[in-house]
Amino acid sequence: QGSVDGAHGAASVPPFRPGLEGVPATQSAICDIDGQRGLLTYRGYGADVLAANSTFLETTYLLIWGALPTAAQLREFEQEVQMHRRVSFRIRDMMKCFPASGHPMDALQSSAASLGLFYSRRALDNPEYIYEAVVRLIAKIPTMVAAFQLIRKGQDPIQPRDDLPFASNFLYMLTEREPDPLAARIFDACLILHAEHSLNASTFSARVTASTLTDPYAVVASAVGTLAGPLHGGANEDVLAMLEAIGSEDQVEPWLDQAIAEKQKIMGFGHREYKVKDPRAVILQGLAEQLFDRFGHDPLYDLARRVEEAAAVRLGPKGIYPNVDFYSGLVYRKLGIPRDLFTPIFAIARTAGWLAHWKEQLGANRIFRPSQIYTGAEPREWVPLEAR
Ligand code: ACO
Repeated sequence: QGSVDGAHGAASVPPFRPGLEGVPATQSAICDIDGQRGLLTYRGYGADVLAANSTFLETTYLLIWGALPTAAQLREFEQEVQMHRRVSFRIRDMMKCFPASGHPMDALQSSAASLGLFYSRRALDNPEYIYEAVVRLIAKIPTMVAAFQLIRKGQDPIQPRDDLPFASNFLYMLTEREPDPLAARIFDACLILHAEHSLNASTFSARVTASTLTDPYAVVASAVGTLAGPLHGGANEDVLAMLEAIGSEDQVEPWLDQAIAEKQKIMGFGHREYKVKDPRAVILQGLAEQLFDRFGHDPLYDLARRVEEAAAVRLGPKGIYPNVDFYSGLVYRKLGIPRDLFTPIFAIARTAGWLAHWKEQLGANRIFRPSQIYTGAEPREWVPLEAR
């Protein structure tokens, strides 16, 4: 028998739901998911419509300020982001001290947090401070991801190029080559599709951190740490490892049967909200096919489709279908992006959603402090060391 903290003797205790499944923990006007029909909207606009028509920066503006920007607002936002892309040489020098063998998500979490050392004024009720913080984080996170990639290869980071739009500039800083326009467009659409997804683990983490009224750099750093885990953003790396482990199409069924018998989670499958195929997976699959048509086929894609078919028979009846991570890795692989940067790229995109939730949380803040059900020892007597 336990007690609910702060509720000794309380008449009714709400049921405990592990993982807070189905428990509303906030009110939000940012994003809506229909998990039965496989629909996803940002501020009322379909994610598919945004992926086809918008840009990542325009979608970021929409998510954070609630309405599509006018042409003047968008131009100003794009210019501000462009002007703030560079990071201090102090941060670059700090990153040079990180072990090259470290995971880029850990490098990103540390460098995102370090921005607070430079810009932490915490004028949280000032819309200009909010705008500035959004601009800085959206602009600098990609630069820091690209910088660590070059630093760990023993090279100096490349400075952002002012003539390149957001997605092209990131790919340029990463690969030292100006990307093909189709590749940049597809990458931008990937960022849109990863920009927001309601109260997932990292966004919840961001909102909890925001509720203490700390600075937005700490908010993003805590969310990056949460996104890094293999049950959340980290799954996209594991999908490619899984496809490689399966190896060939004739191994798909025995591999899946054994994994399911051993109660292993199939990476890139399943979602707390979706009981059908994740709509983002549907769009990403289409983007992957466009890339293969243009730049050559990837045999891992045939294997992935075979896994999807075979998994549908085995896991479909439980409502387990491909999620966003299943095809995103294949897109990034075709773009020549190293595998351990997939999750940092997810973070670049999701920074938009985290900041939208940060701003919304500040608008009606109450610190998060849920209760717990205590299951420990009853009050007991202290036993001196010599008597134990
Ligand atoms: N493979 C096999 N079985 C699965 C999978 C999967 N990928 N996902 C869920 N199940 C099964 C569970 O074994 C469980 O079965 P049981 O009732 O017979 O015991 C049932 O479905 C419910 O699973 P839970 O883990 O309780 O579901 P939950 O909603 O807590 O987890 C999650 C959702 C974490 C995404 C889970 O599906 C998973 O671990 N998937 C693999 C990792 C992954 O792809 N993560 C990325 C998610 S998308 C994102 O974060 C960007």
